[in-house]
Amino acid sequence: MKKECPDKSVASPSQPKPLYVNPYLFLHSVGEEICVWDYFHHQQFILDAPHLDRLIAHLTSPPLSSSPLDNIFLEEGILSETPFPRHQWGWDLLGQIYHFGTRDLDEPEQRSTLARATDFLNACSAFEKRQLQTGTPDPFIGLPRIDLPDWRSDHFDLNLGKALEARMTSRVFNGESISLHDLSACLGMTFAQKENPWPEADIHKVTFLGKRRTSPSAGGLHSVIPYIVAFHVEGLAPGLYGYDDVSHQLVLRASYTAAELDTHVTRLCGDQFFGENAACGIFFVSRLDQVWTKYPHSRAYRDVFLDGGHLSQTLLLLATSLEWNTWITAYFRDTELVSFLHLRSDADLPLLYVALGKGDRQALHPSVLEALRLRQKEST
Ligand SMILES: Cc1cc2nc3c(=O)[nH]c(=O)nc-3n(C[C@H](O)[C@H](O)[C@H](O)COP(=O)(O)O)c2cc1C
Repeated sequence: MKKECPDKSVASPSQPKPLYVNPYLFLHSVGEEICVWDYFHHQQFILDAPHLDRLIAHLTSPPLSSSPLDNIFLEEGILSETPFPRHQWGWDLLGQIYHFGTRDLDEPEQRSTLARATDFLNACSAFEKRQLQTGTPDPFIGLPRIDLPDWRSDHFDLNLGKALEARMTSRVFNGESISLHDLSACLGMTFAQKENPWPEADIHKVTFLGKRRTSPSAGGLHSVIPYIVAFHVEGLAPGLYGYDDVSHQLVLRASYTAAELDTHVTRLCGDQFFGENAACGIFFVSRLDQVWTKYPHSRAYRDVFLDGGHLSQTLLLLATSLEWNTWITAYFRDTELVSFLHLRSDADLPLLYVALGKGDRQALHPSVLEALRLRQKEST
């Protein structure tokens, strides 16, 4: 018997081990290069053409032969010899990228309390420097201003427990006017900057860049400013106004009739008519550039919404204590709203709208009740 010598030319190729592709990747272009972003592990890599081709091959159909190009992918977790854990997710990929892409950010290794306190002060100084270099444009420069009546916190005879219990979302307003005095007090109490917010700054001779209002704000930034839609406010012409939280003034952006404003606002709130006939409405708008100057990671996008939520709850409770009805929404025709409010399309973000005024305290609008009656009639 003769032992056969294996013929190398016809030998079957070495079977490559199955490799799994990280499911938390997206590709995007950076200048003329392609970057793969692993949003779960917060890593980004520029790919040269062979690596890009190889990754595409893995993504489209498992390659039949192994390649040395896979080694770096294995080292960096783009590929793995074991399956990647899958996560439950009910929204689209955009939401998933943000959800995982903004959590578990790199924390510095364990450091002493004093070292961390020094890090904090250094970060504050760095922010101060950046702030001085960049600044943020004044949205109200050169516009006509109206002094609001003085306000004091004792304008509100607020019993917190009762206000919390009484607050509700009401979808019926009757067009009755509110006083400028009351509106001024609501704006001042919710949005005005506190004077001398950090007495410790003088004592310790440090600069605390930031604002204080009656609600907390991430990093003391208070990027959210109110735009007021005045429909029926005694002594105030109907129109769209900004609010200057330092001078406590309204800044006229555009004049309209109350009827025109109702039509606009209903459309801007996605055709929701629940705020019609309110006395006034307030759009809460975040100036994002104030936030990204301090916090460069997009995780801070979360904080902006939290700031809006705190401010709106303060306003809702104050309005409730004045026995006003309140309706809140976060649903907008975004681009049209940005244009109506004269905002920047990139760096301004409308978060919420709150309608305020008098009327029956009803969760259901009469038109909804009517539709309900019709449906019940049809089904009998
Ligand atoms: C962020 C946010 C968005 C909302 N969006 C809408 C909306 O688009 N339309 C609406 O009629 N109500 C909206 N609401 C009101 C809720 O429907 C209401 O708060 C909820 O039904 C509970 O009722 P309550 O406010 O009376 O306690 C919103 C509330 C919040 C906090």
